[in-house]
Amino acid sequence: RAAVGVGDRPRLVARRVVVRYGRVPAVREVSVELAPGAVVALMGRNGSGKSSLLWALQGSGPRQGGTVSVDGTDPAKVSAAEARALVGLVPQTPGDLLYLETVAEECEQADRESEVPEGTCRRLLDRLTPGIRPERHPRDLSEGQRLSLVLAVQLTAAPAVVLLDEPTRGLDYHAKASFGDLVRELASEGRAVLLATHDVEFVAGVSDRVVVLAEGEIVADGPTADVVVASPAFAPQVAKVLSPQPWLTVSEVRDALAGAEARV
Ligand SMILES: Nc1ncnc2c1ncn2[C@@H]1O[C@H](COP(=O)(O)OP(=O)(O)OP(=O)(O)O)[C@@H](O)[C@H]1O
Ligand SMILES: [Mg+2]
Repeated sequence: RAAVGVGDRPRLVARRVVVRYGRVPAVREVSVELAPGAVVALMGRNGSGKSSLLWALQGSGPRQGGTVSVDGTDPAKVSAAEARALVGLVPQTPGDLLYLETVAEECEQADRESEVPEGTCRRLLDRLTPGIRPERHPRDLSEGQRLSLVLAVQLTAAPAVVLLDEPTRGLDYHAKASFGDLVRELASEGRAVLLATHDVEFVAGVSDRVVVLAEGEIVADGPTADVVVASPAFAPQVAKVLSPQPWLTVSEVRDALAGAEARV
C-alpha cells in the first residue's frame, strides 16, 4: 500500500454535504477528506446515498448544503472543462457518458476537450484494455471494455480526484485484478481515489480506508482492516474464517505464514 505522508494536504475536502431529492434527504451532512495517494472505499446498502454523494463531490449532481473543495476550487462552480481536470467520475452505468458513434470519436473528443496531445485517450485505453477496434460502437462493447473506455475518457483530463461508482460490476476475475492494479497505480501517481462498491473482496485488496454510509450518514470511517472486521456485512471471507487474526486477503495470509516460517 502507498504510504501517505502525514503532511500531505487532502486533495478533496467536503464538509456537511447535503443532497435532497424533493423532500427526501439522500445525503445528510457528510464530511470526508480524500488524501493524495489513498484509495477510499465507500460502502453501504442500496439506497444509502453513495452515488448521490459521488455526484455531489464531482459537482454536477444536486447539493443543497455544505461545501466541496478540490485543491481549493469548488468543482460545481467552474466550467465543465475545469471540473473535469479536478474530478473524474465513472458512473454506475458508464455507458451514460458515451454518446458518439465510435470508440475513436469518443477518444478524439476527450483529447480535444482536455486540450491534450492527440492519442492521449487512446493510449490510456490501450493500457487498460488493449486492442479495442477504433471503429466499434461504444454500445456494442462488453461491460469491461465500456468501463475501460469511460475510465480512459475521464483520465485524459488527468484529474486530481477519481471517483468510481461500482466499477467492478460485470468484470471477470482477471479484469477485476488488473483493474485493482490500475486503481493502486492512480493512487501512486498522487491522485485521491474514492470508489463506491459492494465488493468486499475488492475492497480488502485495494483500499486503504473504508467509509460506510447508512441512510445518508457516515456510520464508520477508518482503516480498511478495522472497519471490515468490525462489521460482519462488509468482512471478506478470509476475515470471517480467520477472525480474530487481522488478515483480509489470501495474499496477506500467505505473507504472514511466510514470515512465520522465516522466523523458525
Ligand atoms: N434522481 C433521484 N430522484 C429521486 N430520488 C433519488 C434519485 N437518485 C437517488 N434517489 C434516492 O436517494 C437515495 C440514495 O440513492 P443513491 O443512488 O445515492 O444510493 P446508493 O447508495 O448509490 O445505492 P446503490 O447501492 O443501489 O447504488 C435513495 O433513497 C434513492 O431512492
Ligand atoms: Mg449507487
